[in-house]
Amino acid sequence: MGKYNFDEIVERRNTSCLKYDFGLKRKGRDDLLPLWVADMDFRLPDAVLDDIKERVDHGIFGYTDPDEKYFDAVKTWFRERHGFEPESDWITVEPGVVYSIAVAVKAFSEEGDSVLIQNPVYYPFAETIRLNKRKVVSNDLVYRDGHYEIDFDDFEKKIVDNQVKLFLLCSPHNPVGRVWTEKELTKIADICLKHNVYVFADEIHSDFVYRGFKHTSFITLGGKYKEKLILGTAPSKIFNLAGLQLANIIIPNKDTRDKFRFQNDASGYSQPNALGLVAARSVYTKGGEWLDELKEYLEGNLNFVRDYLKEKLPEIKLIEPEGTYLIWLDFSAVTDNHKELEDIIVNQAKLWLDPGIIFGRESALFERINIAAPRSIIKQALDQLYSALHK
Ligand SMILES: Cc1ncc(COP(=O)(O)O)c(C=O)c1O
Repeated sequence: MGKYNFDEIVERRNTSCLKYDFGLKRKGRDDLLPLWVADMDFRLPDAVLDDIKERVDHGIFGYTDPDEKYFDAVKTWFRERHGFEPESDWITVEPGVVYSIAVAVKAFSEEGDSVLIQNPVYYPFAETIRLNKRKVVSNDLVYRDGHYEIDFDDFEKKIVDNQVKLFLLCSPHNPVGRVWTEKELTKIADICLKHNVYVFADEIHSDFVYRGFKHTSFITLGGKYKEKLILGTAPSKIFNLAGLQLANIIIPNKDTRDKFRFQNDASGYSQPNALGLVAARSVYTKGGEWLDELKEYLEGNLNFVRDYLKEKLPEIKLIEPEGTYLIWLDFSAVTDNHKELEDIIVNQAKLWLDPGIIFGRESALFERINIAAPRSIIKQALDQLYSALHK
C-alpha cells in the first residue's frame, strides 16, 4: 500500500466539472459515466493543497508574474526528469498549450499556408489550424498489426508538396499512445530542418510513460534542431491542474521566441493566473513522489483493462499504449458504422467517451477512454460496455 489512496472516489459532480456536469448539455443525457476529457479523478497531495490554501488565505489576487523561484522549480523538474535545463529566458508562461499552438500558428504561418499534423491526433490541432484560416495537411499515422508508425516518405512529400511552414508534433502521441523513439524524432527533425519547417512539439504528456519506454524531448536532439523549435509543456495533464490554466512554453532561439511573443502580445495575453503559478511551482517541487505512485496505479488500471478485454470483450482491440492515460480502442470488429458505435456507447452502455471520428475520419471505428480514475470506476465502465454488447 502506497502513501496515497487513488482508489478513493471523490465526488466531482456539482463543481462545474466539464467531465461530469455537462452530459445533458453536450450529449443529451445526464446518466452517462464519463471517461472522456483528459483530466483525472484524483485529488492532489496535501502538501500542494496547503500551498494553494496559503495563497488563498492571503486574500489578494492582483496581477502576478513568474519569479526566479518559479523558474527554478520548472528548470529543476526538466533537469531531473527530462535531461535538459531551459534558461529562464526561454520560458513563456501561457494559459494553456492549445492557446500556445494558436499563437504559434499565427506566428509561423500566414493565412492560406499549410500546417502539418499526424492524424489521428488530438482534435484541437486541426481546429486551431482551420479556425486561423490555414490549411490542415495530415501525414496520417500508419496503423498496422495493432501499432502506429510514421510513414517518413509521406511526411517529407506532404511538406514539399504543400510548402508546409509548421509541424505540430504530439509527443507522446494522443490518442494512439506512441512514445516516439529518439530515432523517429531525429528523422522528423532532419526532414523539418531540411525544409525550414518550424516544429511545435507538444510534450504535455511527457511525464506519463509506461515502464519500459522512455520519452525523448525534442529539445535534447541536438543544437541544430533548436532554432525553429517551440516546446509545449505544462503540469496540467500530469498533476490535474487544467482548471488553473498554466503552461510553460520553452523556446531556446531568440528570433523564434520574439516571433512567438509578438503574436502572444498581439492576442492581448500578459500575466498568468495567480493560483496557477503557485500550484505549478508546488507540484514541480513537491509532487514527484505522488506522480511516481500515480503512474504505478495507472499501470495497474491499464493491466486491468487489458485483462478484462481479453477475458470478456475480445472483440474490442486495445492499442497497447506506451504513454498517456488515454487508451485507444479499436471497435471495428463490433460494427462498421460509426453512428451505430456512438449509439452503443452512449445510449446502450451509457458511457461518455471520445469517439474516434473526432480525431480524423480514418479512426471512425475507435473510441478513446481515459483511465485516470479509481479502478472501481473503470470496472463499472467496462461492465456497462459488456452489458451493452452481450444483452
Ligand atoms: C496533446 C495535448 N495537448 C494539449 C492539451 C490541452 O492542453 P491545455 O489545456 O494546456 O490547452 C491536451 C489535453 O488533453 C492534449 O492531450
